[in-house]
Parts: sequence; structure tokens; C-alpha cells
Amino acid sequence: MNIIFCEDYEEMSRKAAAIIASKIILKPDSVIGFATGATPIGLYKELIKRYEKGEISFADMRTFNLDEYLGEIKDLETSFYNFMQNNLFLHIDVKPENTDIPDGSAADIQAECERYTEALDLIPEGLDFQILGIGANGHIGFNEPDDYFPLDTHIVELTEETIEGQKPFFDDYNKIPKRAVTMGIRAIMNAKQLLLIASGDGKSKILEKALFGPVTPNIPASILQIHRCLTVVADRAALSQIIEKHPDAIL
Ligand code: GLP
Repeated sequence: MNIIFCEDYEEMSRKAAAIIASKIILKPDSVIGFATGATPIGLYKELIKRYEKGEISFADMRTFNLDEYLGEIKDLETSFYNFMQNNLFLHIDVKPENTDIPDGSAADIQAECERYTEALDLIPEGLDFQILGIGANGHIGFNEPDDYFPLDTHIVELTEETIEGQKPFFDDYNKIPKRAVTMGIRAIMNAKQLLLIASGDGKSKILEKALFGPVTPNIPASILQIHRCLTVVADRAALSQIIEKHPDAIL
């Protein structure tokens, strides 16, 4: 595991974008798993800048996404589908047919989970890169704390803490979906490289626990410790507990 120190959110976004951009330059037909949430917005802005400067093209790439709310999400401005369109896809040359996000509005949601799992299984040797944020309770994607690691794409009842965490994106608390569909732990762990990004004081305790505590499904992100190629890019505030307890672990 490599932990890369950044002074602030802007530096985290730039460094994370540099890592993803190098991958795209070296392997233009990369398959990349994207994440939503507040944390990757700056990273996506940086990728758009690099695309506009002509440094990178997404034309040959394929993309997957970690998760989606369940319900009539196509009408929901705050759906992860719309998040990806607005924060990245509409600003770059990725082909819409090469982007895949679980369809939370599917009439047969179980069939949709199976379709997504199969689509991920068809990628030779797994995703080239999966970008991850971390939830306040240690969730990755929407894999919530549980007694086991759910392996494949599945439906989740969001915890109260996670629902709270979605508040910045909704004007009305009651409109926050309470269920979601998420990529499971297997596709995440099968990715050749993982990029975990974290920013802000609110992430410092959970980040330390996830990366240095026991590997347990009660903190889903803790499984990342045993991934073959995990890079963590985080800012000073998010790293504060690690700086205090494991200063030698930081690059
Ligand atoms: C959401 C997403 C996760 C994300 C997490 C953290 O619940 N499903 O993929 O990593 O929240 O979000 P934020 O970056 O806003 O802190």
C-alpha cells in the first residue's frame, strides 16, 4: 500500500488525476471504475482540464461505476448517473455506449444486479483501475458494514449514517433514497489497481481504522489492506490520525 500525502483537496485532486491520466496515456483502452460523492469532483475537473489541453483522450476507454440509488433515479437530478454525466462524461470524449452504471430504476432489479456482475466478469483480468472514496462508516461503493463481505452486485439498505452523508446533495432529507445497488467486493478487489482518495477531517479516524485496523466486514474498506496494488491519495486533514499513529507509512 502506498499512501501519498497531499497538503489539501486541490493537491489531492491533482495527484489523483495524474495517476489516472498516466494510466490512460499508457493504456488508452483502459477499463476504469469511477466513484461518486464530493471527494472525486476535483479529480474529475482535473481530468477534464487534461482532456481539454489534448493530453488525454477517453475515446477508447470503457467505464464502470460503483453504485446507484434505487428507485426512479433517471428523474432524480442527484442520481449517480446524472452525477457522472454532469461532472465528467458530458465534458470528455468517452463514448456513451462504453459507460456502464447499474440501473437503479430497472423493473427487475435482481436481473440488473446479475447483468452488472456478468459485465464486470467479462473484463479480462478485472478493471484496470477502480477509484474509491470512503464513507464515514468505512463503506466502499455502497458496501455497508455487515457480518460478511458481499461479493457481487447487490441491493443495499443504506445505514442512517450513510443517508445522513448524502445530505449535501439533496435539498430535502426525505428525498434521499434509502436503498441502493452496488458493485460487490469481488469486482473491487479484482481490479488491477485501486486508488482510494480521501479529504477532510471527517475521514481521518475511519481512514486510520480501515488501513491499519483489523480486516473486518464491519469496516468494508479494511479489505483494501490486502489488495495487491492500493494507492491512497489523501490530504493532511484526512491523514491526521495516520500521521499521528503511523508516520512512517506515508510517502
Ligand atoms: C457515497 C458513495 C461512495 C463514496 C462515499 C463518500 O456513499 N456511494 O462511493 O465514496 O459516499 O462520499 P464523499 O466523497 O461525498 O465523502
